[in-house]
Amino acid sequence: MHVTLRQLRVFEAVARHLSYTKASQELHLSQPAVSMQIRQLEDDLGLPLFEKLGKRTALTEAGRELYQYSRSINRSLQEMEEVMQSLKGVNRGRLHVAVASTVNYFAPRLLAVFHQRYPGISPRLDVTNREALVRLLDNNSIDIAVMGIPPTEVEVESEAFMDNPLVVIAPPSHPLVGKAQIPLTRIGNETFVMREPGSGTRQAMERFFNEQGLAIRHGMQMTRNEAVKQAVRSGLGLSVVSLHTIELELETGRLKVLDVEGFPLARKWYLVYRRGKRLSPAARAFRDFVVQEAPQIAAPVPLPRA
Ligand code: PGA
Repeated sequence: MHVTLRQLRVFEAVARHLSYTKASQELHLSQPAVSMQIRQLEDDLGLPLFEKLGKRTALTEAGRELYQYSRSINRSLQEMEEVMQSLKGVNRGRLHVAVASTVNYFAPRLLAVFHQRYPGISPRLDVTNREALVRLLDNNSIDIAVMGIPPTEVEVESEAFMDNPLVVIAPPSHPLVGKAQIPLTRIGNETFVMREPGSGTRQAMERFFNEQGLAIRHGMQMTRNEAVKQAVRSGLGLSVVSLHTIELELETGRLKVLDVEGFPLARKWYLVYRRGKRLSPAARAFRDFVVQEAPQIAAPVPLPRA
């Protein structure tokens, strides 16, 4: 057998995406180059690795077996690169952080201070949804994730580092604005603008209403906090958002926080990385920095009193 690391890397990408096109985009190769690598690998092994089921590309039994090996070989290669990188020390190196969308409201502030302190480290920040974060952790493609609910699908280490209170927001003209201790049952009559399924904010809100035995009257669904806030301002309903997302609107009075029984919901932000992962010095410096300093730099604003 003359199987090469390059072939295995190409195979791993095609098998993960089950798509030659996506694999070629990820690897910055042309599609014929990817197909050729796979054909050579199949010739070498004397076994077909993929089959076409209608339009879908699927793994054969040999493909599934090889995928297990190629994943662990890829992981070892990445770890080798990281260890080599780490020998260059903390003052250099790359740092790849991926965060849930709400984290975007404070992550750049943290990175700005971190960058002043470690100008030699070049951070990359990806903002994405929970499902993608879990995939990135599983593939070992990032150093650290920041999210509101650590995943159970992948074995991870997680550390809570800062509060993430969720509040009920309303437009300033809403009749409940300024009322104290609004009963939850009263809120049950209101329509709520919802985040997309998969949003941590939405999960926490649904869990709370469920525990209280209350149904939520779903209004429109929006994938972005910014859209949710605009919808609430436009009178499309109330919503539940992280206090981090409404700092500016509270300053300008464009949105109000309602004083609802059971709120704010107490949540935390977590730093998450794969269990057993050797953090590079850059990633370790970032982890230490966030755990020790994030609350001073990026804590949510104090809740306005009713
Ligand atoms: P999200 O925030 O709602 O933007 O996914 C993450 C979380 O609160 O868990």
